[in-house]
Amino acid sequence: MNVTEPQGISGVEENLDPLFLRVCRNEAVETTPLWIMRQAGRYLPEYRRVREEHDFLTVCNTPDLATEVTLQPIRRFDLDASILFSDIMVPVIAMGADITFAPGPVLAEPIRDESAVRALGRPDAADDLGFVMETLRNLRRELPQHVTLIGFSGAPFTLAAYLVEGGASKEFASLKSLMFQEPVTFHLLMEKLALVVVDYMKAQIDAGAQAVQLFDTWAGLLSPADYREYVLPHVQRIVEQVKRPGVPFLMYGNGTGGLLELFEEAGVDIVSLDWRVDMAAARSRISPGIGVQGNLDPIALFAPPETMPLRVRNILEGAGTESPHIFNLGHGISRHTPIEGVEALVRAVHDEGRRIRREAADAIGNS
Ligand code: CP3
Repeated sequence: MNVTEPQGISGVEENLDPLFLRVCRNEAVETTPLWIMRQAGRYLPEYRRVREEHDFLTVCNTPDLATEVTLQPIRRFDLDASILFSDIMVPVIAMGADITFAPGPVLAEPIRDESAVRALGRPDAADDLGFVMETLRNLRRELPQHVTLIGFSGAPFTLAAYLVEGGASKEFASLKSLMFQEPVTFHLLMEKLALVVVDYMKAQIDAGAQAVQLFDTWAGLLSPADYREYVLPHVQRIVEQVKRPGVPFLMYGNGTGGLLELFEEAGVDIVSLDWRVDMAAARSRISPGIGVQGNLDPIALFAPPETMPLRVRNILEGAGTESPHIFNLGHGISRHTPIEGVEALVRAVHDEGRRIRREAADAIGNS
């Protein structure tokens, strides 16, 4: 049995089996784990210092630099997971796409016809993306044992969104036109991307990633019916081929409150929620045993720190403790975030997470 006592500063025996993984296995735990999307980034002065010397892609492509910036938030905050520092477009660059960052991805030549799709290659993940695997191996050596290492990939639809559109856009009219007008070419692109995503995520797990997250940031552009027809089969195939016992598979989308059931249908272990959905309402739409992640508004970190416990508590109570809950923001942290807001969040999640479990135990004891 894995009975774990709350571990304060006085805790003699640290439980080195990471809290994040224990929650994903739905074990009884002492508190709620958290990490923050884009936790290594421009809100940290030490990250900005690295970026003064090196451009973004150089940081992604250089294992020593990527390792260093991945570790920066872990040194500062008591986070339960560490996500590989990279970008969703890195494997797509290895497929031959010419991409720069300004600061989001921009394509020199958007991919809009069959010949452009056919020209995309299938990189050897362990070799052509070996720098990512080296970063993951470094991280497993350097991270404290109680911190879970998360690998990730962009999902085919979100990668296709940048490839076809050429960058971010409001309506993604080029992407959707290709999808509706040339579904064969669209599916060919999705299939090619899915193959690369599978190779890439498997190689990350081989290199030491203990959990993986698929970022389908732009899936919320689609109606549930279109998501089911154009996207879901590709994602299902990825999940089926990548999923391994003991390695939780997390699914992220933004503006995807209308797709939660479909995310579950993809076969993932944890469904991530943005802040536009109420946690309790979302929780009730997802099957028991399947976990949720989220879902604080990133800009709530700008609120007075003393208001954080109440905000956090509402989310924790909405998620309950019957099924896994990983605390996170509903999207990446803003570059303008005050450090005090992050400190208040980390403290509030761990403190309130302990408190709701203690209160539940007392209630049972008293009944
Ligand atoms: O700490 C982490 O979360 C890990 C690193 C990470 C980055 N991007 C670093 C980054 C991860 C997991 C991503 C994923 C990513 N990249 C997504 C999916 C998540 C999401 O945000 O929805 C997407 C859509 C991208 C594409 C992308 N890359 C965008 C839209 C941008 C601009 C972001 C911005 O805030 O301006 C990037 C650049 C990027 N990726 C930065 C970072 C730290 C900023 C780059 C810089 O230092 O100039």
